[in-house]
Amino acid sequence: MARKKIIAGNWKMNKTPSEAVELAKTLIPLVADADVDVVFCVPAIDIVPVVETVQGTNIHVGGENLYFEDKGAYTGEISADMLLDAGAEYVIMGHSERRGYFHETDEDINRKLKKALEKGLKPIVCCGESLAQREQGICFDWIRMQIKIAFQGVSAEDAKKVVIAYEPIWAIGTGKTATADQAEEVCKAIRDVIGEIYDTDTAEAIRIQYGGSMNAGNCRELLAKPDIDGGLIGGASLKPDFGKIVNYDK
Ligand code: 13P
Repeated sequence: MARKKIIAGNWKMNKTPSEAVELAKTLIPLVADADVDVVFCVPAIDIVPVVETVQGTNIHVGGENLYFEDKGAYTGEISADMLLDAGAEYVIMGHSERRGYFHETDEDINRKLKKALEKGLKPIVCCGESLAQREQGICFDWIRMQIKIAFQGVSAEDAKKVVIAYEPIWAIGTGKTATADQAEEVCKAIRDVIGEIYDTDTAEAIRIQYGGSMNAGNCRELLAKPDIDGGLIGGASLKPDFGKIVNYDK
């Protein structure tokens, strides 16, 4: 069965609740005709107002992070139940900004993935190499390791529900997109490692996004690649351009 493409905006730390509602209202008509799954991943405090704003549309809402414990003394953290009760369906985990600035480890991401799946959230698991790692020739080893640790203890049935986002760190927010061939090469390698951990069925079912300076100009070439099933969009998700990206096939 063909995989349905999934294009998600990662709004990062950019919109207050009232600004988020305005942006959602601007984007609703621009994405209404999309043939792909459309997701807005927004700051935790924006989830409730954005969910209310997009009710009855084709837009799904996600969080940008979660904590792996159910509840308790974890000041500042957001649980899976909180996200679900607020109306989020998806959640990003393991973004390189969280790995870098907030010291998240592969083991943390594995716990987050298992918690999200246990609770019925749809996970978007990020992976990606730095420029130094690419230049050292360890890009594939690095990403295989990230994926193998993230999926420890996850069943094949659950793995099929996961979206993986390949985001080369050197391409995030830099305007330097990976070429479509570079992105495809790594997305294929990710599918191969999922095939090694599980089986061909799981590898063929799982959706893999590319992220890193994807925009209205370069999305078509990236999304034409056989192993690129969507995009995780930062900067361009905050602009009407996002409507062009989700309608890349029109
Ligand atoms: P940019 O699209 O701004 O490069 O960000 C990509 C990203 O980090 C999405 O998660």
